[in-house]
Amino acid sequence: MEYTEQVMDHFMNPRNMGEMENPDGVGTVGNAKCGDIMRIYIKVEDNVITDVKFKTFGCGAAIATSSKATELVKGKTLDEALQITNKMVMDSLGGLPPVKVHCSVLAEEALHAAIQDYKDRLEKGEKPASEEDEEVRYV
Ligand code: FES
Repeated sequence: MEYTEQVMDHFMNPRNMGEMENPDGVGTVGNAKCGDIMRIYIKVEDNVITDVKFKTFGCGAAIATSSKATELVKGKTLDEALQITNKMVMDSLGGLPPVKVHCSVLAEEALHAAIQDYKDRLEKGEKPASEEDEEVRYV
């Protein structure tokens, strides 16, 4: 199976790629198999994700699925964002070759980690971590 047009579009023109200054939550995950790493930053206001950015050291499928995932969660509440699965992201891109399915898991996991980070900080009244002490969790 080849990459769909939507996958190629998001790979060539990724949406919301880059870093974010003073994010409210940051999540970083790595894929234990290939070693690729994904980081997602979120800004949250009144329980809604008002902005999201991603940065990846990963393959084209990881870039495309993260780009699509950021598009899907922008403007959603935290609970709505948590309902978005890698399958939904893949489906909205017209599918991925079977060997690339694991790449789509990175975006989902990094997003969940960023939301959890936000919730933890809210509870403890802490500001977000800086880039330096952001740890990679392999999934
Ligand atoms: Fe590692 Fe795609 S091959 S995320």
